[in-house]
Amino acid sequence: MSHDVHFRDPESTDPRRPQPAPEIDPLFVFDFQPLDDPDDPVHAGETGSRWSTYWDVERLCRGPEPVPDWVVTDRAAVDTELGVLKTGKEADVFVLERAVPSADGTAPSTLMAAKRYRSEEHRSFHRSSAYTEGRRTRNTRDARAMAKRTAHGREVAAGQWAWAEWEAMKRFWSAGVPVPYPVQIDGTEILMELITVGEEVAPRLAQVRPERDLLVSYLDQLRDAMAVLAADGIAHGDLSPYNILAAGERLVIIDLPQAVDIVGNPSGMDFLMRDCHNICTWFGARGLEVDEHALFAELLAAAF
Ligand SMILES: Nc1ncnc2c1ncn2[C@@H]1O[C@H](COP(=O)(O)OP(=O)(O)OP(=O)(O)O)[C@@H](O)[C@H]1O
Ligand SMILES: [Mg+2]
Repeated sequence: MSHDVHFRDPESTDPRRPQPAPEIDPLFVFDFQPLDDPDDPVHAGETGSRWSTYWDVERLCRGPEPVPDWVVTDRAAVDTELGVLKTGKEADVFVLERAVPSADGTAPSTLMAAKRYRSEEHRSFHRSSAYTEGRRTRNTRDARAMAKRTAHGREVAAGQWAWAEWEAMKRFWSAGVPVPYPVQIDGTEILMELITVGEEVAPRLAQVRPERDLLVSYLDQLRDAMAVLAADGIAHGDLSPYNILAAGERLVIIDLPQAVDIVGNPSGMDFLMRDCHNICTWFGARGLEVDEHALFAELLAAAF
């Protein structure tokens, strides 16, 4: 193998001959600080950072158009985990910052909620199969793995819950139901809008004691949201004051993986009735009586 190495006569006048470095104008001298690669395992372990995964996922795994202005889509953005928001029964929710690194802090940056589903072995409860009735696993290898409860099968199941929630979020969002904007899904992780009140993460409805006027407005908002869903043929399926965030004047509905088809799912009506019961019980306990059967009838009318 021949190596393309050239020796030149130092006295040659060849213009390609390296010239001595000229004096450098100090104006062009600047401090170079290499950025650590966030995907470098050593670095990532230290800081909980990674390159933004926004463009790594397929189009269907990114949120619906129009993408809100606050979503950071820069390829140079870095995701940094800021802490755990809540460890739940089947998923953990983290606060994640997605930001373009900059010295003066003027580059785009946003906070998101990262909901990560646990594979079944790490869960503290298992969903009833009533939710999944009629849901098919197209890939037969996946179906067999799930039936045999292999590690791969458990991962597939966690991914299916994440995917079910992702699909529901997009559908609810596009129907105009107040849910966090779904930014992206990557396997068992969903990134979504972080719902805040001022500088704080929004509390759950169960934790607040609203004044009467706000209470009335909250109930109206929920009724409207449930009616829009019913008209679209779906029920949340696990609606309760724990899965609704109180963002000041408005409510935001979360935790959607079990959204059910009211008519197509054999238990659809039962889930809808339970949603009505949970909501009416909470408002009733705060002095705002609503008849759960009347609400149920109202929603069924919207569904058919
Ligand atoms: N987008 C969000 N913005 C702010 N807080 C959120 C968001 N998503 C989730 N949370 C917080 O994380 C908690 C758990 O989220 P979620 O209900 O979706 O998961 P889960 O696994 O079902 O939890 P749980 O078992 O407690 O119901 C919520 O009760 C809420 O406090
Ligand atoms: Mg929940």
